[in-house]
Amino acid sequence: MDFEHVLVVGAGQMGGGIAQVVAGSGRRVSLYDAAPGATEHGLDTMRKSLEKLAEKGGADADEVLGRVSAVDDLVPADLLIEAVIEDAAAKEDLFRRADEVLPEAAVLASNTSSIPITALAAVTGRPDRVIGMHFFNPVPVLELVEVIRAAQTSDETARAITALAEDLGKVPAQANDFPGFVSNRILMPFINDAAYALLEGVAEPEAIDTIAKLGFAHPMGPLALADLIGLDTCVAIMDVLHEGLGNPKYAPCPLLRQYVQAGRLGRKSGRGFYTYA
Ligand code: CAA
Repeated sequence: MDFEHVLVVGAGQMGGGIAQVVAGSGRRVSLYDAAPGATEHGLDTMRKSLEKLAEKGGADADEVLGRVSAVDDLVPADLLIEAVIEDAAAKEDLFRRADEVLPEAAVLASNTSSIPITALAAVTGRPDRVIGMHFFNPVPVLELVEVIRAAQTSDETARAITALAEDLGKVPAQANDFPGFVSNRILMPFINDAAYALLEGVAEPEAIDTIAKLGFAHPMGPLALADLIGLDTCVAIMDVLHEGLGNPKYAPCPLLRQYVQAGRLGRKSGRGFYTYA
């Protein structure tokens, strides 16, 4: 399985980044997003990132972008990588439709942060060819791809997606399909506890982030990271962890939920724990 033509659905920060690294590996990419203007915005962001990388000796931005076509619906391809909103019903609907449009041999992959891959596989007629391929933001910079096997995923699919991740210049790590997989089972409680520390007046946001940055040598503190990921996404993942693992320690911090209700989603809305220009 070479996956010469990849359909990426969702042109937000994750989908755009995924399209960029796939096109950067020499493959042809079709990029689809149902929201008006989203694909154009995704392509603009890709150009800025590629220009930064080209200054450091990376591939020419026009050459990479020349392999990306914006499409206005699902199209047949060798592989789907889905990066739409973190909502189980939306992803299941997409997987049902993709199962009809993509050839029988194609693999359907999800970049979900926490939604069960086993449930996505179950809505298709090819559950052995469904898998989780979880990238990390900013996708062009971070090396990890968490490869998540559904209960139904075949060895052949897992091998092919692991090889693809390596060919994209990433480091794959395999996880099984349990709520939050490995990455978010560890990361989200850390972010959630930072939000509790703020809510309970333990420290100001800057102090909380400085403690994590300088005390644990993290590249950014948990509150700044939550703003990068999106507070709505953080709450959605905590809800999946809470429901799926049934442990009250995973309940989202009320402050996170309140910020989301107020439209403070992080960098993408201009305000989260911090304010952005
Ligand atoms: N494209 C290309 N290059 C980029 C880039 C992008 N999108 N974003 C940053 N860079 C480059 C910068 O140009 C810079 O390059 P130089 O060192 O050559 O100047 C380098 O990366 C570092 O960037 P900055 O100087 O702007 O700032 P920084 O040193 O603070 O790094 C960061 C920024 C890469 C975001 C870093 O802070 C970091 O790694 N943060 C942690 C991010 C993280 O944990 N992500 C995972 C989130 S969880 C997730 O995504 C999945 C989930 O399920 C929720």
